[in-house]
Amino acid sequence: MRINEDRLKNHFEELSQIGKLGDTGVCRPTLSTVEKEAFELVFTWMEEAGMKCRIDHFGNLIGRKEGKDPNAPVLMVGSHLDSQPYGGRFDGVAGVLSGIEAVATLTENEFVPDRPIEVVSFCDEEGWRFGKGLFGSRGILGMLDEGELLNKDKDGVTREQALRHFGCDPDRSFESIYPHGSIHSFLELHIEQGPLLQEKNQPVGIVTGIAGPLWLTVKIKGYSGHAGTVPMTMRQDALVGASEIVALFHEIMKQDPQGSTVGTVGSLSVFPDSRNSIPEEVVFTIDLRDIDLERRNHYENQLRECVANVAEKHQLSYEILEDQNSEPSFCDEWIKDAIRKECQQAGLHAPEMMSGAFHDALIISNTCDYGMIFVRCKDGISHNPAEYASYEDLAIGADVLYGTVLKMMK
Ligand code: GLV
Ligand code: MN
Ligand code: MN
Repeated sequence: MRINEDRLKNHFEELSQIGKLGDTGVCRPTLSTVEKEAFELVFTWMEEAGMKCRIDHFGNLIGRKEGKDPNAPVLMVGSHLDSQPYGGRFDGVAGVLSGIEAVATLTENEFVPDRPIEVVSFCDEEGWRFGKGLFGSRGILGMLDEGELLNKDKDGVTREQALRHFGCDPDRSFESIYPHGSIHSFLELHIEQGPLLQEKNQPVGIVTGIAGPLWLTVKIKGYSGHAGTVPMTMRQDALVGASEIVALFHEIMKQDPQGSTVGTVGSLSVFPDSRNSIPEEVVFTIDLRDIDLERRNHYENQLRECVANVAEKHQLSYEILEDQNSEPSFCDEWIKDAIRKECQQAGLHAPEMMSGAFHDALIISNTCDYGMIFVRCKDGISHNPAEYASYEDLAIGADVLYGTVLKMMK
């Protein structure tokens, strides 16, 4: 093993204390003081690895090691340090720490690459706090939506306020945009978040592409009234309509014979949220994904039909807003090949697989070639404090990442 397995393990252990949730989980909301604390610690590790660090105006933490030609397009590796509210300690963290480990190993070997290399922890990959994810990676490519900084979290804090509180200056964010052509290629290591590698008894997998997520917000409007007096036949109960849609959506999604289309309602709020008032408005989210865009579109149409039918049945009105709509993106052959060769040299039989989860790589693929390495995780559990990957597997993954970085720098 070329990387330092013990150092990598220590970094995981130390970082998992920041935002610790229960015995094994973490809650590290994006742009929070908890994430800032994580950034400060990781900042020191990036410096120890021989990088110069900065936090840009999109809230990304970036470490950079210069190459022989400082003007050459950069090789970027990374992932994210923010977590789900009820999250695990490996999601995102694995990609950032293995990137730092790879650069530390380069530095220890006194290897000066031709091109610069950067390790990035992207801001708000997860997307739950402000309703839209992959913020930092979209930011550096100039792909933010108009008005997006005004999105609010559950406490009414806007993204702009959170960025300023974090030390960023949104008025200067244009300075943090990477001009087209300035990123040579991108590599991300991530835990698989699915059960395939465990089933195949392999520590590492090669990603072939990333499914495209569609995120919608559905607003159902009825009419509030007294829970004790309005006859059942006269009600326009928004929660009754929303509940029916949630249950029908689940049944619709289960029809997919391949089971590769997945749909989730993960957040729902009721107004006025009072036990003795009829619900007037319900707002809920839809997360719909597939590696095949046509099939995803087919299920989106079924969902829209279902919302219209249920609304009519209960005399409700509705609105459907689109928060995020990405197409699937496929990894580039030369990078998959570099990972394949690394795995072969290490005696691994790495399976090749699509990612159902999205990653910052999905966004960065808009500007350059990209590849991804998966590391086995126990029972495929993720977005849950029980998420687990062994330090042995993570070290094997980090070593494959290191070797792939060497190949990608040539
Ligand atoms: C990222 O966390 C995702 O939801 O796929
Ligand atoms: Mn992740
Ligand atoms: Mn995640």
